[in-house]
Amino acid sequence: KKVVLAYSGGLDTSVIVKWLQETYDCEVVTFTADIGQGEEVEPARAKAEALGVKEIYIEDLREEFVRDYVYPMFRANTIYEGEYLLGTSIARPLIARRLIEIANQTGADAISHGATGKGNDQVRFELGAYALKPGVKVIAPWREWDLNSREKLMAYCQQHDIPVDFTGQKKKSPYSMDANLLHISYEGGILEDPWAEAEEDMWRWSVAPEAAPDTPTYIELTFDKGDIVAIDGVPMKPHEVLSRLNQLGGDNGIGRLDIVENRYVGMKSRGCYETPGGTIMLRAHRAIESITLDREEAHLKDELMPKYAEVIYNGYWWSPERRMLQAAIDETQKNVSGVVRMKLYKGSATVAGRKSDASLFDESIATFEDDAGAYDQKDAEGFIKLNALRLRIAAGKGRQQD
Ligand code: ARG
Ligand code: SIN
Repeated sequence: KKVVLAYSGGLDTSVIVKWLQETYDCEVVTFTADIGQGEEVEPARAKAEALGVKEIYIEDLREEFVRDYVYPMFRANTIYEGEYLLGTSIARPLIARRLIEIANQTGADAISHGATGKGNDQVRFELGAYALKPGVKVIAPWREWDLNSREKLMAYCQQHDIPVDFTGQKKKSPYSMDANLLHISYEGGILEDPWAEAEEDMWRWSVAPEAAPDTPTYIELTFDKGDIVAIDGVPMKPHEVLSRLNQLGGDNGIGRLDIVENRYVGMKSRGCYETPGGTIMLRAHRAIESITLDREEAHLKDELMPKYAEVIYNGYWWSPERRMLQAAIDETQKNVSGVVRMKLYKGSATVAGRKSDASLFDESIATFEDDAGAYDQKDAEGFIKLNALRLRIAAGKGRQQD
């Protein structure tokens, strides 16, 4: 028996390695990925070795993560419940896919992860796993064991010779955090009181808007078919774009968020997020779409967006409905090319200008100055009257108007 574990190298997943070996008497294969969380992944090798792991997978998936997951999602301007840019949600399908691929390569029949039984992540990992390997077994230690406190976890480490400090816990943060190239998230601790303001030193990726530079930063973002392909004219790969925008956004206090969201499992949860690059990308993408998309196309796309966000948040990336929505969204992006000029200043990312060879904006029609003749203002009279017809009929028949 063999199980592939999503292994961070931290204390919790190190305990899981031992616990799986003991409880299930199985061979554990570890999988650790760099998706831009900002921590070294290579140290996970020695830790896994010390725990007796023989097959150790350590991979740099940053490029794939942004190119194949983050960028396709941003083409839809995706946000959950009006606020959340889905930084954690979008990373899970990639982890699920690699867990299954590694299971297939190593002949494992099970996968395991360190998500709790109360959250969204368990759902995302497992829906993905089942969709990609229908017969796979899933082991979720947090739903099975009774090591549900810090103390019990530590006691388990002592009993099993898991060196607590070499598991990399420098100063244990009071928050449950998750980071990748798109965002860093904070939950738990004092945040469990929705009225309590997050302490300033919780935020790791951005300066406070009030402490940001007094002079604005301008950047030009080049779009090709809905994707940013260059910053200030310098071509970059998707993950390079995102990390550069994270830097610029963080320096200018952009992308902080404090929300209470509805988890798929049914509870409300308070979370804080920093998504500096994503916040800039979303604004800029909407700006380039504003001149390149047809009105009805844009509006229909906006109606689909909340559904698409829910599909991703709830863990259905590997589903027919996600593929269907993606196909529709990608179809709209054929002409979404051009340049957007952004002004970054003290917490805000505002659009300063947009231009495109595929622009539908027609100055000669839009102008308030003298009419060139393409638009006859007299036509508007009939347009309005016919649209008002049913309203006039109803009013004429005394229908109440309040
Ligand atoms: N609430 C967010 C989401 O469901 C963030 C989850 C953070 N996950 C974590 N393991 N700390 O997408
Ligand atoms: C967890 O419960 O493991 C993290 C939070 C979440 O998945 O929503």
